Amino acid sequence: MMLFLLCVGLTLVGAHKKVVCNIDKDNFNMPQISGKWHSVFLSSDDKEKIVQGGSMRIFVEDMDVLQNGSLYLKYHFKENDICSEFSMTCDSTDKSGCFEVEYDGHNAFCIVETNYCDYLIFHLHNEKEGEHYQTMELYSRKPNAPKRLKKKFEKECLKRGIPKENILDLTEGDRCAKDRSD
Ligand SMILES: *[C@@H]1O[C@H](CO)[C@@H](O)[C@H](O)[C@H]1NC(C)=O
Repeated sequence: MMLFLLCVGLTLVGAHKKVVCNIDKDNFNMPQISGKWHSVFLSSDDKEKIVQGGSMRIFVEDMDVLQNGSLYLKYHFKENDICSEFSMTCDSTDKSGCFEVEYDGHNAFCIVETNYCDYLIFHLHNEKEGEHYQTMELYSRKPNAPKRLKKKFEKECLKRGIPKENILDLTEGDRCAKDRSD
């Protein structure tokens, strides 16, 4: 009997750790967003920030939710045909899935929606010297994303006033994929 209970207990502990692919729009299960990601779609109401040379044209490789709730992000970016790597650690806020970081101004960003296993959509608001703009990103666990996710992303962009023509499909260009460590 004891052994049986122990087995049930261990099974429950094991089940608890398993990643569940449910869609969440709030109260995120933060540890589940950790791991490898690929930037697939990128949009902004200030397109200059996301085209070649723009500070927000950066390609994610890895995310890690730290012990203190901060979010570590590792990126690559391309400048003058050279790929470089950099990382940032973003402070958590009172709101689940929302973070703040200084990077070319002050950035406040939140997860819009994720199912942890396939995709994650971020919405970011940047403020620099009194100027504001927003960007949105779709991260995928795979290098590409299916059409239905593009549709979903477009809808979320439109909702926030970013038109379809301001959405870039990053899979069409160089994302410094050769510099990834996976
Ligand atoms: C959380 O921990 C990381 C890594 O140790 C550190 O860089 C960051 O500053 C910490 N954040 C806060 C808000 O203390």
